[in-house]
Amino acid sequence: MSVTILAIESSCDDTSAAIIKDAKILANLTATQAIHQQWGGVVPELASRAHQQNIVPVVDAAFKKANILPEELSAVAFTRGPGLIGSLLVGVSFAKAYALARNLPLIEVNHMQAHVLAHFIDNHPQFPFLCLTVSGGHTQLVLVKNFLEMEVVGETLDDAAGEAFDKTAKLLALPYPGGPLMDKYAQLGNAERFLFPEPQVADFNFSFSGLKTSVLYFLQREVKRNPLFAAENMNDLCAGIQKTIVDILVKKTIKAATHFGVNEIALAGGVSANSELRQRFEQAGKDRGWKTHIPAFEYCTDNAAMIAIAAHYKFLRNEFCTQQAEPLARYEI
Ligand code: KG4
Ligand code: ZN
Repeated sequence: MSVTILAIESSCDDTSAAIIKDAKILANLTATQAIHQQWGGVVPELASRAHQQNIVPVVDAAFKKANILPEELSAVAFTRGPGLIGSLLVGVSFAKAYALARNLPLIEVNHMQAHVLAHFIDNHPQFPFLCLTVSGGHTQLVLVKNFLEMEVVGETLDDAAGEAFDKTAKLLALPYPGGPLMDKYAQLGNAERFLFPEPQVADFNFSFSGLKTSVLYFLQREVKRNPLFAAENMNDLCAGIQKTIVDILVKKTIKAATHFGVNEIALAGGVSANSELRQRFEQAGKDRGWKTHIPAFEYCTDNAAMIAIAAHYKFLRNEFCTQQAEPLARYEI
């Protein structure tokens, strides 16, 4: 019997639908929300409204792309959390209504587990492996023991890695989200010119709020002497800030992988698009004889394909939920 699943992701500001058949992604379509750019961050109420507008056309387009009929589905899957409650509600309600109307089983998926399982879309890491999940909302080191058996061994105590990029970029007057721009300018800069302190955090946890503060104070001091300081030194500032963030992420990953004795490391989440992080992560693996896994970019940022692959493994284990499953703003792995 073949297993075909419609999966919905709506936890933040991307409305995404995917169709997966026997673990192969047939469609993965996402409507992004440009509306947030003018506000310098995601506005939850606007995100919910945009999901409401996008969800039916995105699902329709996914069926067309996959060339699948609704009658062929085996189940409907959705992101239950963590995320913005209003955003989650749109996807959860849609999935429940769809399942009810077509008399299909429902599968709820943890968004953070799904980021990790995105590695199984076109690849197959060996268990146990360590996954560094870095996005605008999360920073986690996850020890992955099996498909649905994971343990968070480290996480951020304050800002997420993506927020560290976006907030420091904002201090440099870069538009939101600043991460990709910082990456671009950093490639042209000298990372040794401006050095920022690395926080001393115990175990495998992270902290990024100190970096934001030290960049703020540094800029305030320099701008007093030269109002154009940030603009005139943009590339070097971006290179210095990015190096600090990447150093923190890579060092903790190496420390945790060594401690837990794993020899495969994986990168997930939107920040894994960062060119320096990708390169340093691969190098760290190469130097130690570890295998490194970085998924295709379309599966790094929020997407429904990762929800679909997670749902596939839950389907095989008969892990279904009822119509009572409510969205969860906080949802531990
Ligand atoms: O996973 P994602 O698409 O959405 C969340 O779940 O948050 O991650 C978005 C985050 C943003 O903070 C964005 O600035 C960051 O990923 N990002 C980057 C790069 N591309 C995206 N940060 C640094 N360098 C990049 N190239
Ligand atoms: Zn995410």
